[in-house]
Amino acid sequence: MHRFRYRGDALFVEEVEAARLAERYGTPLYVYSAGTIVDHYDRLVSSLRELHPLVCYAVKANSNLSVLRLLASRGCGFDLVSGGELYRVLRAGGDPALCTFAGVAKTSQEITEALEAGIYSFIVESREELAAIERVAARLGKRAPVALRVNPDVGAQTHAKVKTGIAESKFGIAAEEIEELYRQLALFPNLFLRGIQIHIGSQIRDVEPFEEAVRRVIPLVEIARDRFGAEFFDIGGGLGIAYEEALQSGDPGWWESKAQWATPARYAQRLRPLLEPLKLRIVVEPGRLLVGNAGILLTRVLYRKDRPQKKFVIVDAGMNDLIRPALYGSFHQIVPVARRAGESIEGDVVGPVCESGDCFASSRRLPWVEPGDLLAIFSAGAYGFSMASQYNSRPRPAEVLVEGTDHRLIRRRESYEDLVRGEQIGEDDRATDPERGAEG
Ligand SMILES: Cc1ncc(COP(=O)(O)O)c(C=O)c1O
Repeated sequence: MHRFRYRGDALFVEEVEAARLAERYGTPLYVYSAGTIVDHYDRLVSSLRELHPLVCYAVKANSNLSVLRLLASRGCGFDLVSGGELYRVLRAGGDPALCTFAGVAKTSQEITEALEAGIYSFIVESREELAAIERVAARLGKRAPVALRVNPDVGAQTHAKVKTGIAESKFGIAAEEIEELYRQLALFPNLFLRGIQIHIGSQIRDVEPFEEAVRRVIPLVEIARDRFGAEFFDIGGGLGIAYEEALQSGDPGWWESKAQWATPARYAQRLRPLLEPLKLRIVVEPGRLLVGNAGILLTRVLYRKDRPQKKFVIVDAGMNDLIRPALYGSFHQIVPVARRAGESIEGDVVGPVCESGDCFASSRRLPWVEPGDLLAIFSAGAYGFSMASQYNSRPRPAEVLVEGTDHRLIRRRESYEDLVRGEQIGEDDRATDPERGAEG
């Protein structure tokens, strides 16, 4: 459910007309609904309330400081995968004691920063990493809380690039190796086992894979609890959202027709009987679920190109702004900001980037559009701006947060100066490789 609606023929974000935002802040423009983010968070917490969950929002989905601040103000924790994300959370006023730190390639600098900040737990992905955390903890004279990420080898119906819980993926530790890691842990005086974690992938719409994964690792969780005094079981993120009918999914009635979907309520209902008897703190790491359908990308039609074989609607947003369609072939619903009656058009919606893959929709039937019209690309709140780049030397878009009738810029549009920040062409900074000498 979300707060993007037509009133008459005008698209509104909460109480603000989307067209006004585009006029005021320009396009392409990311627009987020604060009420939707908070509502998604509250619904998840309330569905899981008997389990007293710790929700650690996956910062990678949308790492804008204002989004983090909004969630932190509700008592939300954070799932981090880099030192940069920790930096953002601290800048936004997040509580490090509610942060988990996952990722297969933590550097010793990142481990040091997280340990000094006092995070809740590292999520350890390999035997070597365990030893690396032990070394840093020993150097700092601290005891580091760790959880083992178990790869439950469960497939889910999702895109191959976002499956993380199968044996062939780089994530986690195989269940057969866990016993060996338990032995190793006992030899490390500067570590203590705080929990077990799983995360099987992203955009998963059925409950079964989550249930299957939880079921498979419960025996390992019980050992962690009974032998090591572990206190939490982190069941990861991955709950899917509506992409095809994103606009319609703002209507509570729409959900009733989706009896199979893993809504927070169904997810909680199915997992609770498995989790409650463990008497552990349950951690969840949603990203997309909280912010995905809380954001749209507004873009303006620049041109149309009508060929006998195909029609193109050329817009000012590109794959550098929203890479999901190009990267995953993912579907994003595209609607006009001002609806008009009459003819429709079938064609590709493409951007300015010099790649044929710079395409938001192919052979899509759209309402009639003309140069100057505005379009809203839905489900852009997660893995949208956070995956944006400056490819083709395109400054990244602005981001705006709407709250009721208020709206404010939460990231200014980048300038050309931003494109070259940190680069230099001065002779003063030239260094000579000592091995090769002056002629090298
Ligand atoms: C460890 C971990 N937790 C949580 C998430 C969030 O996933 P989602 O946005 O699908 O909820 C991810 C996403 O890649 C992840 O890698």
